[in-house]
Amino acid sequence: MDKQQFYTVRGYELLDQDKRLLTSAMEDYLEMIYRNNLQEGYTRINTLSELLNVRPSSTTKMVQKLTNMGLLDYKRYGIILLTDEGKKIGKFLLERHIIIERFLRTIDVNENILAQTELIEHNISRDTLNCIDILNNFFERYPEILEKFIDYKNKKMKEETI
Ligand code: FE2
Repeated sequence: MDKQQFYTVRGYELLDQDKRLLTSAMEDYLEMIYRNNLQEGYTRINTLSELLNVRPSSTTKMVQKLTNMGLLDYKRYGIILLTDEGKKIGKFLLERHIIIERFLRTIDVNENILAQTELIEHNISRDTLNCIDILNNFFERYPEILEKFIDYKNKKMKEETI
């Protein structure tokens, strides 16, 4: 992933909590399919259940639901493709994940970064996400400020454990 890349978070009109159409589970599926399709071009039901640690029967059910919503193209041989709308949302979901994960690494969180990212990503607003994205880029642009923050943080954490 190109670290200089700036993500403008657009194209996912379903994010606002009040008009949210996708559940967290649906978002997890879509993000994983998008991620896997980027590398392999398609995803199989079995691969998806393994990646998400869920039973193939639940995977099939969810894939059918997302297909009915017009986000997936799933017909035969257990091969899952994304529609244009599915790609648009999947791209956003992956970028959202990357922004949050990058933020947690930047501020030097040490434990459970992936689990934390998964918990945060489904509930964050677009505005907050944009601000975090800008903050990530700010710290990259001014590493000396980040260094000061890390020093400060380490000092504070030491004080707390005394
Ligand atoms: Fe994620």
